[in-house]
Amino acid sequence: MKIVTLMGSPRKKGNTDKVLSLFEAKMKENGHKVERINIAGKKIAGCSGCWACAKAKSAPGCAIKDDAIPVFKSMMSADAIVYATPLYCWDFTSQMRALIDRHVCLVSGFETPAHASALEGKTTALLVTCEGPVKDNADLIQIMFDRLNGYGKSCVAGKFIVPGCVSPESIGPKAEKTAAKMAAAVEKTALKREKSK
Ligand SMILES: Cc1cc2nc3c(=O)[nH]c(=O)nc-3n(C[C@H](O)[C@H](O)[C@H](O)COP(=O)(O)O)c2cc1C
Repeated sequence: MKIVTLMGSPRKKGNTDKVLSLFEAKMKENGHKVERINIAGKKIAGCSGCWACAKAKSAPGCAIKDDAIPVFKSMMSADAIVYATPLYCWDFTSQMRALIDRHVCLVSGFETPAHASALEGKTTALLVTCEGPVKDNADLIQIMFDRLNGYGKSCVAGKFIVPGCVSPESIGPKAEKTAAKMAAAVEKTALKREKSK
């Protein structure tokens, strides 16, 4: 299968990269194709709220012709998408946040019988590294991720939070453990979907 990983940290060799790289290596080892996209290195504006996308014939019908368009095309071609981010003020980084708002151009008819999404049925996972604990810290991002997947009609394989991240050097064992758990969950969910087709 094809996996697109969205790397939301501006730090190319930080904590998030450490866990994500281990996940990617495991997936490649298992014969999957992995495309990593460094979101922080892209030019992605915030949504302008123009709703041109609502009138577009096909997704992504966004009026802003920046780097979000090829990112969405890669996501649409994937079987599984991993959203990886350090926790910034209890949320995604602002670079990832802009891409998430722009997801409105992939969805139509929300909360109506015609609800459709260009990401429908895709397997997704959330990876968060943070310095603090999970409780009262990495809670809101998980609620938001579930809601985003309901909106995008995608299937959440899991939400993987790595608390107590101080430096990439100090998180070795928990990085390995999280990456392995995440790889198993993504494969299991994607396989289940494949069988139900
Ligand atoms: C602007 C900013 C905001 C942050 N906010 C939080 C936070 O709300 N909760 C937390 O536990 N850690 C917070 N952190 C720490 C990072 O989430 C943590 O160190 C993370 O693992 C960094 O990942 P990276 O090395 O991939 O960039 C923040 C760091 C920065 C720079």
